[in-house]
Amino acid sequence: MNDWLEAAKEIAVAAGDMVKEMAASRPKVTHKGPVDLVTEADVRAEKYIIGELLRRFPGHQILAEESGGTADAEYVWIIDPIDGTTNYAHGFPVWAVSIGLFIDKRPAVGVVYDPNLGELFAAVKGSGAVLNDKPISVSTVGKMTDGLLATGFPYTLREGPQRIMSDFSQIYLACQGVRRAGAATIDLCAVACGRFDGFWEVGLKPWDTAAAGLIVEEAGGRLSKYSGGSFDHFVPEMVASNGLIHQELLDILQRQD
Ligand code: IPD
Ligand code: CA
Ligand code: CA
Repeated sequence: MNDWLEAAKEIAVAAGDMVKEMAASRPKVTHKGPVDLVTEADVRAEKYIIGELLRRFPGHQILAEESGGTADAEYVWIIDPIDGTTNYAHGFPVWAVSIGLFIDKRPAVGVVYDPNLGELFAAVKGSGAVLNDKPISVSTVGKMTDGLLATGFPYTLREGPQRIMSDFSQIYLACQGVRRAGAATIDLCAVACGRFDGFWEVGLKPWDTAAAGLIVEEAGGRLSKYSGGSFDHFVPEMVASNGLIHQELLDILQRQD
């Protein structure tokens, strides 16, 4: 495990620093959809990460946001070269590099690097989670009314915004505030280290959750679907929390209206 963790950390830091350096020259932006962007930096960072991983672990497989791949193998690295691309494209410094290793379709290692804050989050299954090598844990906030939460919106929001907006307003009214910073991996790592008490989102992809989901669980947090059933990285809905406010959050998401 240690070789995999050290490789993921080293590669995420190198890629993140490269992407940060490219930000000054405002990399070219192209559209994958009406509001779904990709920059030259996403493509270059992903190529670098894949190259480095396959050089070190030639038998492993890759699933990456910009170039695809497969999750159907024993060892699969799941990569989001820039989580928070819209932020990055606008020069808003809230984005991160995410690298996770799945073994037999389950998360084993996860690393999220935020070069703007110099924060490297990491977790290994069964060994806890760290921020810059120091152990982290979720908050002890016990009630939604005392909580600060985060969410995000899928790029397909315009195709059916009603329920998503209604969840947002219901949850906003039940807690101290909801932040929408635009990078799911950073939101989840903030749950892991107790800055946020909960998070929910529909439409996430495995590269958004592979590393950061493990970091939340290893920090003592809980993940689930909206139904409360076991979270699945390949089913696009996620509720994450410190565990203590989880049921209150689910009660709102499960209401009938
Ligand atoms: C997006 C961000 C955003 C979330 C979207 C993701 P990207 O990832 O994590 O916060 O709301 O659902 O797709 O496209 O910037 O890698
Ligand atoms: Ca992402
Ligand atoms: Ca991305």
